Amino acid sequence: METSKFMIFPPYRAGECVEFTPVQERILRLKKEKNAVILAHNYVDPQIQDIADFVGDSLGLSRQAKNTGADIIVFAGVDFMAETAKILNPQKIVLIPDKSAGCSLEEMCDPLKLKALKSANPDAIVISYINCSAAVKELSDIICTSGNALDIVRQIPEDKQIIFCPDKHLGSWINEKTGRNMILWDGFCVSHAMYDARELAELKAEFPKSPLVCHPECPKSVRDISDCVCSTEKMIKFCRDNPAESFIIATVVEMIHRLRKEVPGKTFIAARAAGKSCQQCSSMRRNTPEKVLACLENLSPRIEVPAETASRALKPIERMLEMSAG
Ligand code: 13P
Repeated sequence: METSKFMIFPPYRAGECVEFTPVQERILRLKKEKNAVILAHNYVDPQIQDIADFVGDSLGLSRQAKNTGADIIVFAGVDFMAETAKILNPQKIVLIPDKSAGCSLEEMCDPLKLKALKSANPDAIVISYINCSAAVKELSDIICTSGNALDIVRQIPEDKQIIFCPDKHLGSWINEKTGRNMILWDGFCVSHAMYDARELAELKAEFPKSPLVCHPECPKSVRDISDCVCSTEKMIKFCRDNPAESFIIATVVEMIHRLRKEVPGKTFIAARAAGKSCQQCSSMRRNTPEKVLACLENLSPRIEVPAETASRALKPIERMLEMSAG
């Protein structure tokens, strides 16, 4: 059922995704022949999720990228994710189905401005959300994702000043949860920032038994009325463990595919942002099965990161992985 405010996804039916299309079949054959893995973010096309070797959040994908034995990584996601995989695997071929799949947060963080902010706060350490360019990563002390941000910040001595970039909403959530006063960069995710607390409150009133689950990239007014604020991966655990039969989800709509498969028997209500079409990330949508097939056939487009940038950016990524082992 679909209205201007929400879209209801019924419980997953066993066997719903077992029949592959000819394109999916060809991808599966080719990735075996070429010893490739497909790493897919929770936000990409369900048809790609269904044939991926791993589907997950930014943290899970970084861990997979570090540990894969494949020769080729096809990264179905956005460019900073594929870049992170390349930094972790400089010898491997890292393919991205559409090189123009970027991220608004990445675009909002100019490395030169970050350099200036660091100079103005020489005693501060820089923790950057993984949604940033390699040029910003190399200026950072530690990288984090939405899944481990609280954990990482809590490990930093309380008297240490922190510059957090580029997401001001995620940063303010961390400040609230940890009692810190981090210096926040003025960036935001254009998709999550669109959610409107008044509209979501109306939706909650319409579905009073359905907890509202949102991503920490949402504004504070939205987080404040949510029953759970967490990374995409943690949404699965919350919906599985919570006794409710249905949930209102405020994040990119493709997430519902993963939720339906992992949490069978439950109904998911995708909240629409400010009357717009169901929540979308235009960059994630650039990943199509046809482009995955083409990049595997042509071994292009590839992600490359200049060696010096990559070796400097590797340190804060490895620091993140050490600080959030598990
Ligand atoms: P996750 O940390 O849940 O993967 O979120 C990534 C993201 O870009 C959300 O918009």
